[in-house]
Amino acid sequence: MRLPLGILSVLSALAATGYSLSCQTCVSTSSTPCQGPSISCPADNACAAINTLSTAYGVTLSEAYTLSCIPRIQCDKPGIISIPDGKIKRGISCCYTDNCTPPTPTLPADNNTVNGLVCRTCASADSTWCYTSDTMQCKGDENMCLLQTTEIKGSVSTKTALRGCATKSICDIGSTSESSPQISMDVKFSCTSGSFGIHQGYLMLLLVPIAFIKILY
Ligand SMILES: *[C@@H]1O[C@H](CO)[C@@H](O)[C@H](O)[C@H]1NC(C)=O
Repeated sequence: MRLPLGILSVLSALAATGYSLSCQTCVSTSSTPCQGPSISCPADNACAAINTLSTAYGVTLSEAYTLSCIPRIQCDKPGIISIPDGKIKRGISCCYTDNCTPPTPTLPADNNTVNGLVCRTCASADSTWCYTSDTMQCKGDENMCLLQTTEIKGSVSTKTALRGCATKSICDIGSTSESSPQISMDVKFSCTSGSFGIHQGYLMLLLVPIAFIKILY
């Protein structure tokens, strides 16, 4: 008899903890809390409410509220992703009993103090890759340079890529996958950190021509 790999990994996860939490799941495209079916979570997960707000030029582009299972390590660690004219803020709160309702998450506060890190920035609406010479100054506790890729497959299909500054809490997510019968969405967060700083002398040389171009035009 052959057991599908997925079932085997679920069984071994259950064996490891002996218990699996059940959480409500839903997605709402507003800040309003939603309700949805309960699912059984992987090991070491908590029930989370995640509030995501995207803004450009200070104007709200989209807002989402989701309930889901997430790894406990991501709990109560809000995050920010920034590009030169826009920002995505993510508030997160958790609870730890079957089908509990997490407290309403609060979004991280703005901090406009530059922190010395310079990241490349670009955006693509039709590919999971982008690269330009444009750079930006990171602010507050956005101590990482991020490449975020999103792949949506199903009744609508899109690929996007984004480079900018991010908090470490965003980088620690690594990747997320969500799927419904109609659609699947995979998001990956890859980061480079301040260790980039050892090349800063070299980086500054690279930036000098860009600074000149900006002054000239
Ligand atoms: C804002 O960010 C700066 C630079 O990272 C930091 O030194 C400062 O403590 C932050 N302020 C607050 C209120 O978090």
